[in-house]
Amino acid sequence: MAAAAALAPVAGLLIAWLGIIHVGATGGHWAVTEWFLHWTMRSSVRTAALGIKKPSGFESAKHLKVTAVHFQMSCAECHGSPDRRRSPEMLAMLPPPPDLRDTVGNWKDEELFVIVRDGLRYTGMPAWPGAGRDDEVWAMVAFLKELQTMSPARYKELSGAKDTESGDTLSGCLACHEQGIEGNDPIAPVIAGQSNAYLAEALRAYRKGSRESGFMEVVVSRLKDADIDATAGHFARKDGLLSATPRARSGDERTLSLVQTGDPVKKIAACQACHDGRNPLYPLLSGQSRTFLIEQILLFKQDLRGDSPTARLMSRAVRHLTVEDVARLADYYASQPLAR
Ligand code: HEC
Ligand code: HEC
Ligand code: HEC
Repeated sequence: MAAAAALAPVAGLLIAWLGIIHVGATGGHWAVTEWFLHWTMRSSVRTAALGIKKPSGFESAKHLKVTAVHFQMSCAECHGSPDRRRSPEMLAMLPPPPDLRDTVGNWKDEELFVIVRDGLRYTGMPAWPGAGRDDEVWAMVAFLKELQTMSPARYKELSGAKDTESGDTLSGCLACHEQGIEGNDPIAPVIAGQSNAYLAEALRAYRKGSRESGFMEVVVSRLKDADIDATAGHFARKDGLLSATPRARSGDERTLSLVQTGDPVKKIAACQACHDGRNPLYPLLSGQSRTFLIEQILLFKQDLRGDSPTARLMSRAVRHLTVEDVARLADYYASQPLAR
């Protein structure tokens, strides 16, 4: 028995070396293998989902526009969409990616979150490219739930199929970064009107992976160096931020003092010392959406928005803000029209 136990691994290696194990995707798995793999997958996802906490109000699917465009660019190829059937190559994968409209209902929200964030090993299902961006993954889960009943016409309208498939880089950007607060999805910032230097720097940061966003990483992977400079230049010459938001509100006393003088006792720097001024590497804030501003400040606070010298500067400036102060400042900047 000892000899047999010692030989078993050698025999295993020998069989693998001889090349008689079939690794092709043709013919599918035996029924029992298929059952076992799916059972293992479901159990693993179920266990991983136990520690996940759903953010409150995520069901309201506020980010349908950005998530639909992303689905069209990154998921529909494999899973199909209300507007497009799965292609024969994708159906020949092992396992084939399912039509998600049929399967989303089999999973709890937390389980969908785990699948979209971590992907599925040995199946071809990719993990979320923006590491640490749980907020983006939740937005995708909310979209998947809407997808179940979405009509082809509605899907087409949201995913901007004509913009993203026209092959024109700029109209692809506009599918998510459309002008004006009304048309804008609140997680996609207004980019028109930011400086050329800041826009180009941000795009390079997404490309290097030093700034994490699954949405933008997919977009920039398709841009050449020249495209980065050209698109940054294009949006810098427009005045999106300048024309947005007519409803200026002045902040309360605490907000204004944070903006203008900061809070020296708590080591919070004055926002206005850097922002909405003349340094082209410091982004303009006035007129951005509240949702976007809050998310970005929280990322900086947790040191999750990149490791460039400018990001570190900003992280230090806001490290000691309380959650209430973050909400205050976001409200304030979201309501300000920009003075150039
Ligand atoms: C390269 C092809 C591919 C891409 C791209 C892809 N998936 Fe998948 N996906 C798969 C495969 C394969 C499975 C596994 C099917 C199985 O285990 O039976 C899967 C499974 C899933 C499941 C679990 C469904 C189920 O019931 O098994 C979800 C949810 C999912 N994908 C969502 C997404 C989302 C959202 C995107 C885009 C961000 C995406 N996928 C991109 C191939 C892909
Ligand atoms: C799928 C939707 C989508 C598309 C398409 C898209 N973006 Fe974005 N973009 C986003 C989201 C969402 C963010 C916020 C990401 C984050 O949290 O860092 C963003 C952020 C940015 C930023 C950072 C701005 C800032 O103030 O920090 C720049 C610059 C940008 N996008 C440029 C572009 C350009 C140029 C294109 C076209 C080539 C484009 N985007 C296409 C969704 C998109
Ligand atoms: C010392 C200068 C400095 C101070 C002070 C500062 N910031 Fe920043 N902030 C920056 C820089 C630089 C960036 C861009 C960092 C990067 O992308 O690498 C930034 C980025 C941001 C962003 C992301 C904007 C976008 O379009 O992506 C927000 C939101 C923000 N700051 C809010 C604030 C608030 C609110 C305050 C005041 C409490 C503040 N900042 C104080 C330098 C500063």
